[in-house]
Amino acid sequence: MDSFKALRTYTEGSAVTQRFEQLSLEDIDEGDVVIRTAYSSVNYKDAMAAHGLGRNIRPHPPCVGGVDMSGVVESSEDERFGPGDPVIVTNYALGVDHDGGYSEIVRVPADWIVPLPDGLGLREAMILGSAGLCAALAVERLEQNGMAPGNGPVAVTGATGGVGSFAIDILAGLGYQVTAITGKADQSAYLKGLGASDILLRSELPRQRRFLGDTLWAGAVDNLGGATLSWLTKAMQPHSAVALCGLAESTHVPVTVMPFILRAVDYLGINISSAMDMPLRRHIWDRLATDLKPAQLQSVARMTPFDDLPTVFDSVIESKMTGRIVVEVDG
Ligand SMILES: NC(=O)c1ccc[n+]([C@@H]2O[C@H](COP(=O)([O-])OP(=O)(O)OC[C@H]3O[C@@H](n4cnc5c(N)ncnc54)[C@H](OP(=O)(O)O)[C@@H]3O)[C@@H](O)[C@H]2O)c1
Repeated sequence: MDSFKALRTYTEGSAVTQRFEQLSLEDIDEGDVVIRTAYSSVNYKDAMAAHGLGRNIRPHPPCVGGVDMSGVVESSEDERFGPGDPVIVTNYALGVDHDGGYSEIVRVPADWIVPLPDGLGLREAMILGSAGLCAALAVERLEQNGMAPGNGPVAVTGATGGVGSFAIDILAGLGYQVTAITGKADQSAYLKGLGASDILLRSELPRQRRFLGDTLWAGAVDNLGGATLSWLTKAMQPHSAVALCGLAESTHVPVTVMPFILRAVDYLGINISSAMDMPLRRHIWDRLATDLKPAQLQSVARMTPFDDLPTVFDSVIESKMTGRIVVEVDG
């Protein structure tokens, strides 16, 4: 196979840098299946890795980034896949400890691969990517926990981000009244277009008493942690739940036990990394292709040429983006 282009991340001293390189198969991590990448995406985790934040980045040897990819199988040593199969790979160690989707060629273990479900294209799969998977799993877990459209409004934080955008769209499609909680005062039209009924600015959340607030939400999808999650927790209806997806504000949550022991509020942990087994992963992808397919998929996508990829990570960390950055690897 000829050489191929990839964006590699290096840690040099305390500095994290990325550069495009021409690689060959010998340069990238092992696996049973070689896939030609069509699209990748930029998740918050990718931006963290590009900035050397958290413990996600592999400092040595250098790693090709990209937590998500969709593409077509070139060759396979595993009988479940053959040349020409359209596939999706997200999470596991991809783009973190295993060379990832910011590469024209990816090689992964067959156990990480999801066949592209009927009803989704390769581009749509990467508009969704980890964010869509996370949002859909959060909605499924909340409904399993008893959330239903008749119970009252549902709150979504980090609303203009990938997970937030899809959570709003999916919930609105299922008939929920959705309140989008955002830091971006100028994004009302975008959020209403996704299906949000109401918008609350994070800086203007109503004051609460110390331990418990008014009971506002029949369910919530949280992408932030921190003070916003604390505020949400105190405002949950009795026997409702918050799906904990992210940490964009903080890993710490200043709460007391009161919402849990007086209102029986539940926290539902959402994890789509290797902790999500393949049957559940395929089930959620199947739902994303059918009953949970977001109606506004195209309006959420921010298409980005592969060559421009290094320029977008700052805007994700600085929270200047809305929706999903989709990387056109096979331009
Ligand atoms: N649990 C899992 O398996 C899983 C899977 C995917 C993602 N995640 C996590 O879920 C979170 C959201 O992911 P994403 O892909 O949607 O990220 P994203 O597209 O970057 O969106 C994050 C959103 O959070 C808000 N935000 C960003 N920085 C903030 C800050 N410092 N303080 C408060 N709000 C801030 C912004 O929304 P507004 O301006 O609208 O408030 C931003 O658009 C991330 O923490 C990510 O790591 C977890």
